[in-house]
Amino acid sequence: MITFREYTPSPALFNSLTDSVDWGTRDEGVVQTALENSLCCVCAFDGEEIVGFGRLIGDRTIFLYVQDVMVRPEYQGQKVGTGIMEKLIEEVNEYKQINKGIRTYLGASRGKEDFYRRFGFETRADAGLGPGMVLF
Ligand SMILES: CC(C)(COP(=O)(O)OP(=O)(O)OC[C@H]1O[C@@H](n2cnc3c(N)ncnc32)[C@H](O)[C@@H]1OP(=O)(O)O)[C@@H](O)C(=O)NCCC(=O)NCCS
Repeated sequence: MITFREYTPSPALFNSLTDSVDWGTRDEGVVQTALENSLCCVCAFDGEEIVGFGRLIGDRTIFLYVQDVMVRPEYQGQKVGTGIMEKLIEEVNEYKQINKGIRTYLGASRGKEDFYRRFGFETRADAGLGPGMVLF
């Protein structure tokens, strides 16, 4: 049975997850700082093994950001991503008690929009907003 709970993985484990979904790996010190500065990390466990992950970053009051939602390929299509998103949305709802107008963003990879629509997200275009932009 897959279970979901707040847990911060080690940088090595985080890298093994990103690698499994073809996002590559990063310096472990960089990952450590990123995870430490996250508001909340959610892991999906199959027994003791972490098979999926997602995190929330942000300022706790005006803007939140869902980041790094990923499920090991062999576990995809089994509602693991759904469980991770549900946990993250629970967390978002906690922050809504501080400011009900809090806005939660995410950057959907191409073709993943419909997955996120299930949780109430809409594209900025559909919401009548301008395009999102990124600085590399
Ligand atoms: C995207 C991802 C997180 C989804 O997790 P998952 O565990 O495979 O998804 P689930 O099994 O919870 O899917 C729930 C529903 O969403 C649908 N869904 C999943 N991925 C989808 C997609 N890319 N587009 C549309 N629908 C999708 C599923 O078909 C399922 O529908 P159903 O309830 O009618 O059967 C996972 O496939 C993944 O890690 N992909 C690689 C990394 C990635 O691209 N992450 C997203 C970054 S923006």
